[in-house]
Amino acid sequence: MSIAFPLHRNESPLPDGDREAILAAPGFGQYFTDHMASAVWTADSGWHDGKVTALAPIPLHPAAAVLHYAQEIFEGLKAFRHADGSVWLFRPDLNARRFVHSARRLALPVLEEEAFIASIEALVRADESWVPAHDGRTSLYIRPFMFGSEAFLGVRPAAQVSYYVIASPAASYFSGGAAGVTLWVSSTYTRAAEGGTGRAKCGGNYAASLAAQVEAHDNGCQQVLYLSEPGRGYLEESGTMNLFLVTADRELITPGLGTILDGVTRASVLKLAAEHDLKAVERQIGIDELRERCAAGSISEMFAAGTAAVITPILAIKGEGFEQVVGDGEPGSSTLAIREHIVGIQSGRLADSHHWLHRVV
Ligand code: COI
Repeated sequence: MSIAFPLHRNESPLPDGDREAILAAPGFGQYFTDHMASAVWTADSGWHDGKVTALAPIPLHPAAAVLHYAQEIFEGLKAFRHADGSVWLFRPDLNARRFVHSARRLALPVLEEEAFIASIEALVRADESWVPAHDGRTSLYIRPFMFGSEAFLGVRPAAQVSYYVIASPAASYFSGGAAGVTLWVSSTYTRAAEGGTGRAKCGGNYAASLAAQVEAHDNGCQQVLYLSEPGRGYLEESGTMNLFLVTADRELITPGLGTILDGVTRASVLKLAAEHDLKAVERQIGIDELRERCAAGSISEMFAAGTAAVITPILAIKGEGFEQVVGDGEPGSSTLAIREHIVGIQSGRLADSHHWLHRVV
């Protein structure tokens, strides 16, 4: 049986003027709405106590499993306001399914798709005034997460688990907007290995990415390009985004699933490829092939795809002793067209011919 998320309204929401000031320039992940959704799971009672309440700190025992063994997963999706004032989610069913996959990998309980979507709908309805105006640039970023909250120091799956959903108005993920990024090919770090947690959306993957991200920043790059082995092997992903290459003969190549995240934007880009006269190809791409084909001009564009970052052009890659510009070092035309296509569907400017939008308000 699916659980419900009844609303207990926040009696002291942020004043309208303060909220409007935030919505005018939300940045990414800095401000949070007035409410949160939550539910608890116990081994004895299953999922219960679903509700939407005022956003507040989470009470946590110092021995809670998540604080010691990182038993945690999360999701990221967005709500968009259309010109007529209605509010829509983009493919929440895919997030729900991935949340189930991640839960299984981290030995957390499964939250059914129906309950996952109900919790998000309840929060978005409660915080509807936080969904930015229809401008094709901003949205409400929604962050569901689940963690072991049982106070117990033995290493085993927690018998008590907490689920929350919070929301944060969002503009561009990168401070420079969608202009494009340079990726750092780390010779020190990898992100995932066969049989590991690479395909799960768990906080531990992101914690382990921070040192590589510092290395990237120290080398003048915004993000990391992870390979299957330090400094060599096959392209994986970028830590917060999946990777795509556009070839001169109109192939759209992306690494196949396995140790990378099964991105919602990735799946959507693959579906739209044919509409951009591109042949979608999922296969392994070696870093040597990438460098050689960029140098020869047979790979003309590269971009990254993710919920937070949408479609971000990759203008160059750098690594120990090399720097390779992609194409002419400017965002490519297919990259920009695909970005426009996805943003257009999300914002209601273009027809939702694949039925990806899910109305909430
Ligand atoms: C998302 O795109 O939703 C992500 O998960 C990236 C996030 C870690 C900022």
